[in-house]
Amino acid sequence: MEGFRTNREDFLFFKQNIIYLDSAATALKPHILSEKVAEYYNNYPANAHRGDYDISYKVDELMLKTRYLVSEMLNAKEKEIVFTNNATDSLNKVILGFFADYLNDGDEVLLTKSEHASNVLPWFELQKKKKIIINYIPLNENLEIDIANVEKSITQKTKVISLAHITNVIGDERPIKEIIQIAHLHNILVLVDGAQSIPHKKVDVQDLDADFLVFSAHKMLGPTGLGVLYGKAKYLEQVKPIIVGGGMNVDFSYDGNHTYSTIPYRLEAGTPNLASIIAFGSIIEYINNIGIETIEEYVLNLREYAVKRLKEIPYIKIYNEHIKTSLITFNCLNTASLDLADYLNKYHICVRAGNHCAKILKDEGLNDTCRISLYFYNTKEEVDYLVEVLSNYCKKM
Ligand code: ALA
Repeated sequence: MEGFRTNREDFLFFKQNIIYLDSAATALKPHILSEKVAEYYNNYPANAHRGDYDISYKVDELMLKTRYLVSEMLNAKEKEIVFTNNATDSLNKVILGFFADYLNDGDEVLLTKSEHASNVLPWFELQKKKKIIINYIPLNENLEIDIANVEKSITQKTKVISLAHITNVIGDERPIKEIIQIAHLHNILVLVDGAQSIPHKKVDVQDLDADFLVFSAHKMLGPTGLGVLYGKAKYLEQVKPIIVGGGMNVDFSYDGNHTYSTIPYRLEAGTPNLASIIAFGSIIEYINNIGIETIEEYVLNLREYAVKRLKEIPYIKIYNEHIKTSLITFNCLNTASLDLADYLNKYHICVRAGNHCAKILKDEGLNDTCRISLYFYNTKEEVDYLVEVLSNYCKKM
């Protein structure tokens, strides 16, 4: 941790006196993001694929550059990178555009009860169209996945496993490579929700052998309203566009005949979120300059420090002490999480409270927690302040 600059000077946000500990919900943005967005709108606000003039060509080039940077980050091919609105949009596109056809009545989908709403509700929607069966891989006493439970949950009918790489409440990192290996031995496809992992660690889709992977730009310093859907080309080519229109067709005639473009464009109907896509390229370069491994190491060290300090406070219960990611999920005895978050807010500390969109985790006994999520711009001093404020609260108990 020593020697690493937290780059706080790049975040205008820190001119305010706010301790931001909710980066799993959305990360703060370095000033380069708004500068790049403004640069697009002020200097070359043209459409892509549409204009035979210099500034439109520039937009095309910058969009291609971001696609290249994302593909390089994931070790994918450029045509395997689809720009979407967010991870939720990506999940809907693949579940309702691919698995709707891929699955037959009676086929089984494996999830867990700690998945985010975005990896549960689209499957429920699919259940309205197809008689698919959703089963849940049991979680162990730490609310984590064991490989043995994955193996036990697979049946002849299992056709897809859809899991968060890192969960958003407990924050456990799943042994996703091993799960994918097991799944593929049984001809099961794996859809990975990378929303909480991509901002924090190197993820190589070829090494993992993931069939599909999704994430959002805004959780990794990028703009809101932009997500990515990665799919192996052979599967992505089979994803039916659930949104059609301009930019994704080759030709169509009055009688309804139509031909759609190849991937990735076929899945990017309408004018893309150009300003965000272009700015996101600069964000990936910004992260590359720091180094994703450096970010991961810094965050893990800071988390270790935060856990050690939080454990000094009586009445604080931590639910995920031993995980190795950025989240600390906790409660203060006899206090509703929203009340605690409200108290912390009075001291300008932002934490998330409640069920964090993982609403069936309550079946496993966890429903109402406060969540701290750290990123590389957080500091030990911020943790110390949090501990001081929480200690004062607990003293009154
Ligand atoms: N999925 C985001 C979170 O966990 C919003 O906070």
